[in-house]
Amino acid sequence: MAELQIPELLYGADYNPEQWDEQTFEEDLKLMQEAGVNMVSLGIFSWAKLEPEEGRYDFDWLVGYMDRLHETGIMVDLATGTASPPVWLARNYPETLPMNAQGQVLGFGSRQQYVPASLIFREKCAGLVRALAERVKDHPALKLWHVSNEYGCHIFESFDPVTIQAFQTWLAKRYQNIEALNHTWNTNFWSQHYQDFSQVGAPDSLPTFHNPAHRLDWRRFSSDMLIECLENEVQALREVTPEIPITTNFMGLFPPIDYWKMAQHLDLISDDTYPDPTDRNSALRVAMDGDLMRSLGGGKPYLLMEQTTAGVQWRPEGNAVKRPGTHLLWSTSRLASGARGILYFQWRQSPGGAEAMHSAMVPHSGKASYIWDEVCEHGRLLKDLSALGSENQEQLDLTTLPVEAKVAIVLDWEALWAAASSIGPADIDVQKQLRNWYKTCYEAGQRVDFVRPGDDLSRYQVVIVVAQMATSQGLEASLTSATEAGAQVIITAPFGVYDQDLRVHLGGYHGPFSRFTGVKVTDVLPKTTAPCEDLADNDPRTDRITSVIYTPGYNEPILIRAHGPLSEILPDFDLAEESQIKGGVWAERVQLENESVKVLAEFAPNGAVGQLAGSPALTVNPCGKGQVWYSATDLDNLGRALLLELVGQEAGLLQPDWLPAGLEIAERGGYVFYLNHGELTQTLPEPVMDLVSGETVDTIEPRQTVIVRN
Ligand code: GAL
Repeated sequence: MAELQIPELLYGADYNPEQWDEQTFEEDLKLMQEAGVNMVSLGIFSWAKLEPEEGRYDFDWLVGYMDRLHETGIMVDLATGTASPPVWLARNYPETLPMNAQGQVLGFGSRQQYVPASLIFREKCAGLVRALAERVKDHPALKLWHVSNEYGCHIFESFDPVTIQAFQTWLAKRYQNIEALNHTWNTNFWSQHYQDFSQVGAPDSLPTFHNPAHRLDWRRFSSDMLIECLENEVQALREVTPEIPITTNFMGLFPPIDYWKMAQHLDLISDDTYPDPTDRNSALRVAMDGDLMRSLGGGKPYLLMEQTTAGVQWRPEGNAVKRPGTHLLWSTSRLASGARGILYFQWRQSPGGAEAMHSAMVPHSGKASYIWDEVCEHGRLLKDLSALGSENQEQLDLTTLPVEAKVAIVLDWEALWAAASSIGPADIDVQKQLRNWYKTCYEAGQRVDFVRPGDDLSRYQVVIVVAQMATSQGLEASLTSATEAGAQVIITAPFGVYDQDLRVHLGGYHGPFSRFTGVKVTDVLPKTTAPCEDLADNDPRTDRITSVIYTPGYNEPILIRAHGPLSEILPDFDLAEESQIKGGVWAERVQLENESVKVLAEFAPNGAVGQLAGSPALTVNPCGKGQVWYSATDLDNLGRALLLELVGQEAGLLQPDWLPAGLEIAERGGYVFYLNHGELTQTLPEPVMDLVSGETVDTIEPRQTVIVRN
């Protein structure tokens, strides 16, 4: 693996000098120096200029820009340009154009119009990439390869004939013989039996429900096709420029691609981030995506490849602009979670095209905009931090500093696809539940590593497994490593209904995993949110019968009563004893599998699942040297916070004692980051020397960032 050996924090943006005249380019070089920019991403959508006609390459213009950038001290993250194929590919090879599930071909005139499974597309990519790499391999500005751009962002599956054939080949390789597929997909149901792989189609545009296992394999396949596109380019690059590290930009927790699998082909993880500033969850998303990126890179620092200075132009619900301070706040949150540089989309706001109204480092009005001041402030801070790091202080070098987490959340893309492919009985939004559990950790001041089933989890104090309706291969080994080392493991429902291929664990859900949870699930009560008022209007004159029928589950919470140690921590949360924790989405009747399982909370007689009254809602089972806590419903904010508090106590998890409203406090090596996401000024426990303002401060204003040496 090649390493990015640059001792400074990176600062810069996507840059398209070819869209501007020479004079603007010269001005840009000056402005970049003024702002402290030291890296730009070139050529991301430049295929049409790099290969204007099939097989005729033109790299001179690009090398010209690279020369001048290098002379100015600016490094290049060079894109392979394959994210937006030129018109000749669409016209000469129309089979490279993707098709949607309704059978419509998606044409040329936007971007990303390619079929990931197309061998012609891949061959043309490899041709361009190899020729480009040969041309620039010794160029001193070349520091990083940026393969394609946001794989799958627009097209993550295609239903064209080439793809369907590739799917059949993929299935034949996976199952070897068709009866193995028939067994896994349970095709005796609804007469879906296949005699040959060539008979299998795509699981969409069907009269009614698809076969869940068919859909799951389709998602695995579609993810694999995009990963193969990456591999195709990576292979050419590694052959020609083995020392230049390779990245491609991820998009946070992006469901279509198994990023664990994709990350294995990369030297550096990078991320693009566009949270909506009006969303109250945006700060936690910034932190969560940061934790995810660091985790995908095995704990190594990652690069923030794209963010905005102010606003975007593409959000249908409205394009709110970041408030003053938010921009720096989110950047420093990224440094706290392990970033080794901050880049933007884009350097100069476009003069035309679909993204003309998207913010940039240099706005349409140039230096007159307040944005320019913020951009320069950012640059100065990163420069100062780089200088601190290079003064031979390992503890302060943010380009290499690790981040320590004691809590791990298991994340498995296959389990996300399995939940989305399965049909009912409740709508399980696993991503939302994962985010909720992340939120609970974030609010409690805990940094989180995301981990993959199969990983050794022995170094974590708390491990959380969220709504894994389908158990993954490797999960058993991971849970064993955690519990044998003494970890506290939280597992939440729905769990272990299916195996990794969506075959039900018969004889009580959890199947073999009940040795961890200590329970088996005998019955399920999905909560529905459909309004019963549609039919029954509660008016005795018109609804003589319907108005008196009580249908539990309709728009009512699942209520839980805590007892034992869980109820003992209620006062810490300023709660009266009768306060109830709520659940949602799904509740289960569980059967205790051994005598050492303790019940911490039960379902209450009222609420959506009143018929489960008295049945355990939260249990804990001793396992190895640790314990496994099982929640038989999706807990609300309060329930999760209480459970984490209790579990944290058992785990000996260091819980910060100063957590004022709105403040994210994060440590990374020799730094402490104070990030005030709230609207109130907070007083710090003691005056500190702030590296951002260069002054001693004892308060922190709304949306202010304070960074201090630990
Ligand atoms: C990203 C993309 C950029 C730009 C940006 C606008 O998804 O990689 O090229 O389109 O969005 O927000």
